[in-house]
Amino acid sequence: MSLLQVRKVTKRFGGLTAVDDVSFDVFEGTIKALIGPNGAGKSTLFNALTGFDRPDSGSVVFAGAELVGRRPRDTVRAGVARTFQNTQLFDELTAGENVMVGRQARQRRGFTAALLRLPSALAEDRDARAEAGRLLRLIGIEEWVDVPAADLPAGIRRLVEIARALATGPRLLLLDEPAAGLNATESRELVQTLYRVRDAGITVVIVEHHMGLVMEVSDEIVVLDRGRKIAEGPPRMIQKDPAVIAAYLGEGGDDDD
Ligand SMILES: Nc1ncnc2c1ncn2[C@@H]1O[C@H](COP(=O)(O)OP(=O)(O)O)[C@@H](O)[C@H]1O
Ligand SMILES: [Mg+2]
Repeated sequence: MSLLQVRKVTKRFGGLTAVDDVSFDVFEGTIKALIGPNGAGKSTLFNALTGFDRPDSGSVVFAGAELVGRRPRDTVRAGVARTFQNTQLFDELTAGENVMVGRQARQRRGFTAALLRLPSALAEDRDARAEAGRLLRLIGIEEWVDVPAADLPAGIRRLVEIARALATGPRLLLLDEPAAGLNATESRELVQTLYRVRDAGITVVIVEHHMGLVMEVSDEIVVLDRGRKIAEGPPRMIQKDPAVIAAYLGEGGDDDD
């Protein structure tokens, strides 16, 4: 079943068309990758899917409901969670507290209100604590629960961000370059985490430059180049697609087709 339908999404910044008429589906229970050279429009597309950037045109239907026009926190409530290309943890909070912040985001009071109540109100929230522990266990990093985010290794920070996004209770998880800054061991752990997340019934869309990881984990790949979708299909097909190879070699050329 198609959980997410992206239809003819276009986003312009002044004269630049950052995302140009892009359409694809994401099927429930799968991992889909969104790849493309720097500046291809991947992060802009994520922003358009999650209410951070309103597309100029097009539609994004998630579980039957239109997401375009919703604010970020309303997309979270609808069941879409994301991480950002640059890690966004609260350095002075522990790993566990950072995850609890994610849980607050799905509750009725606003995200900012939840933040203003930190840390005393959160400390009392035993459910939140138990849930944070459960998610850190799912991700395999429970031993870091009481460590301040500022002291976490890069790889663990990435995984805490994923746990925090999961704390919002999503059906769809969008990850923007989760392997950036990870060493080989940490990347392998990330792969296992992604499988565990998928096996927990959560659909995943991942933007990633680390091709080995993308080819290993994805069921399907969408390739963007200068805002346009130039290919879509399973990893084996994408690997030998001439348009994809050309885009990555910087030989996409001067086409305006
Ligand atoms: N807020 C913005 N204002 C103006 N231009 C932007 C903005 N965000 C992104 N862009 C431009 O849109 C294009 C796509 O950027 P981005 O989505 O970040 O690419 P990617 O994530 O694939 O590297 C780039 O040319 C970038 O400079
Ligand atoms: Mg990006």
